[in-house]
Formats: sequence, C-alpha cells, structure tokens
Amino acid sequence: MKKTIAVLPGDGIGKEVARGAVSVLQAIGERYGHQFTFTYGSIGGGAIDALGTPLPEETIELCQQSDAVLLGAVGGPKWETLPGHLRPEKGLLRIRKELNLYANLRPVSYFAATAANSPLRPEIIEGADLLVVRELTGGLYFGKPSERTKTDGEDSVVDTLFYKKSEIERIIRLAFELAEKRSKKVTSVDKANVLESSRVWRETAEAVAKDFPEVKLEHMLVDNAAMQLIKNPKQFDVLVTENMFGDILSDEASVLTGSLGMLPSASISEDGPNLYEPIHGSAPDIEGKNLANPVAMILSAAMMLRTSFGLEEEAEAVENAVKQVLESGVKTSDIAGEGQSTIGTEEMIEEIKATILDNQ
Ligand code: NAI
Ligand code: MG
Repeated sequence: MKKTIAVLPGDGIGKEVARGAVSVLQAIGERYGHQFTFTYGSIGGGAIDALGTPLPEETIELCQQSDAVLLGAVGGPKWETLPGHLRPEKGLLRIRKELNLYANLRPVSYFAATAANSPLRPEIIEGADLLVVRELTGGLYFGKPSERTKTDGEDSVVDTLFYKKSEIERIIRLAFELAEKRSKKVTSVDKANVLESSRVWRETAEAVAKDFPEVKLEHMLVDNAAMQLIKNPKQFDVLVTENMFGDILSDEASVLTGSLGMLPSASISEDGPNLYEPIHGSAPDIEGKNLANPVAMILSAAMMLRTSFGLEEEAEAVENAVKQVLESGVKTSDIAGEGQSTIGTEEMIEEIKATILDNQ
C-alpha cells in the first residue's frame, strides 16, 4: 500500500513524539511492505516565528493533499502573551475547521503496566476498553445566537444548542460503524428528560440502529453517564454524544486508566484526510529533556493505520508492541512506579520499533 502522511510536529515535545510515530510507521512499512511517504508542515508557535501565522496556507494544502495527518502538539510560554488570533492554539482550531473534522474519537483502554497511575481501584478498571465519540463541529459550542443581550431591561445571555438532523445522524452512524468492529454496543448519551435537541438525538439513534441489527443500542442521561464512567467503566463499548457533553466526558474518561502520555485520539473528516494526535499538549516543562512518553503519539499512528487505511493487523502490531514493551517493565518516568528504573523518549521509541521488527 502507498500512502502520503502529512506530519505536523508543532511545538515542545510535539516534535519529540512525532519523530517516534514516524519511526514506528517506517518499521511497519518495512515489516508489511507498505510505502509511507512523510511530508512535513508547520503549525503553532514555530509557524508563528517563521511565517507570522499559526497555520500557514501551505500547511492546509499539504494536509488536503495527504491521505492522513499526524499532529504532535502546539503551544508554549513563549507565545502566551500574543493576541488571540496569533496564538498557537488558533492553528489547531483552524485546521479542525479546514479539514471538516466532525468527530473526535478517544479510546481509553486498560493497560496492566500503568494501572497503578489510575485514580480508580484496579478491579474497577481491569479490562475496561471504551471509545468516546464526541461531535466536534456543532452543538452548544457553535450554535447561534451566542451573545450577551437585554431581557426586560436586564442584562441577559444566550448560548444555543443547534444541530441539523443530518449532523446528528452522521455522528451516530459513525459510532455504530465503529461499534460493529468492536464489542457491538453503542451508548447514546443525552439529556432527553430536559432538552428537545436530546429527544431528536434519541429518535435519530433509534432510526440509525435499524441499519445495524448486530449492535445493541442503549440510551443514558449524561449525568448518569458521568457517574457510571467512574463506577463501572467496563459496561461501556462506544459512547456517542453532543459536543459539550463529549468534551466533559472524554476528559473524565481519559483519567480512568492512567497517564496523559498514553492516550491517542483521532478526528474524523467527512470529505478529506483524518487527523491523529495525542491528547496531551506540548509539555514545555519537560521539552528537550528526552523525558516525554511517546506512546500516546505512537498509538495515534496505530489509530491512523486502522481507521484511515484499514490496516487492522498493522495497527494491532503497533499496539501489541507497546503492550509488550510496557509489560517487560520498560517505562518512561511519567508511568514508572516509585523507585523503578526509567528510560527516555528516544530509547522508548527504539524499544517499540525493535519489538515490531522482532515480532515478524
Ligand atoms: P500538557 O499536556 O502539555 O502537560 C500537562 C502535564 O503532563 C505536564 O506536567 C507535562 O509534563 C505532562 N505530560 C504531557 N504529556 C506528556 C508526555 N507525553 N509524557 C510525559 N509527560 C507528559 O498540558 P499543559 O501543561 O496544560 O499545556 C502546555 C502547552 O500545551 C500549553 O501551551 C497548551 O496550550 C498546549 N496544549 C496543546 C494541546 C494540543 O496541541 N492539542 C492540548 C493541550 C495543551
Ligand atoms: Mg476539553
């Protein structure tokens, strides 16, 4: 298979971990006979320094011409005092919009080797394996009007939860397609006891479910879902929900199993390349110290292999190599236990790469 991958390393540890993802993908290419071509673009603070904008036009074009996009992270103290439109994070928001990334996928799964980092008891998280599917371009964060007004002579304020029905259907359909390849259960999260938009969400989920007879659909109110994620995360397979509900629940879900340095994400486009990135930021506190955990970025590359290219075996090869390395006790300092020995970013990348090639 021949694929072109746009790599946007960004700032801080983004650069360090992006190198890891590329290196691991090269190992996969070597093992399975695929030709991956990497093209590099700038985004974030580095782009501001070099070109005066957090998202240069040539980066957008580069992404649009690629089969998938890998993004490290952006931001850092150097750019924090710049005006809003010139901030590195603006580059992130804009690339999501330019590429029409309507769904954000955050898988959370149990790793025995890092379970001690979880705030939850081992018996609660052992075996947990869930995927939060968050609607990303509509809902409460984008609805109009969103403004301060006057009502009866008093200051008042409004935000709007707006969806076209096709937008609800699009995200729910994606959740079902993903569940079909996983444990065949969709939990549609809403607030249908209060919100009209949630009642339409629920009806739409029921309608879409008819096309997926093998997938079980359940509805859950968002407040209950927040509680159930902590009480019994193992009950979930795929959760699908509105933008703001998803923002909150995906952050909650991300702490269930341990470290920030372990968690990948995918953002899905309807009509162009998908974008894959770790959920962590540019971590300026550890930048340039060979301390960053590259696993979140490497698992993001695995999601790319599976979701964009349909390379399930190759994705599993990456995930299994990560698991194997961690279980052998080799860890970066963010996931090592008290008194355990640790390795650096570069060594971790080499270990994972070597494991992929040794396992062939
Ligand atoms: P952060 O995720 O960069 O770091 C939070 C803490 O976790 C830090 O102590 C950091 O050292 C640690 N950490 C993060 N990733 C790690 C990894 N892979 N291995 C080991 N330790 C890791 O969040 P923070 O500190 O709030 O933000 C720093 C900068 O990153 C800011 O400029 C922020 O705007 C930006 N940011 C960018 C994001 C993106 O590009 N998607 C997401 C979140 C923040
Ligand atoms: Mg958030």
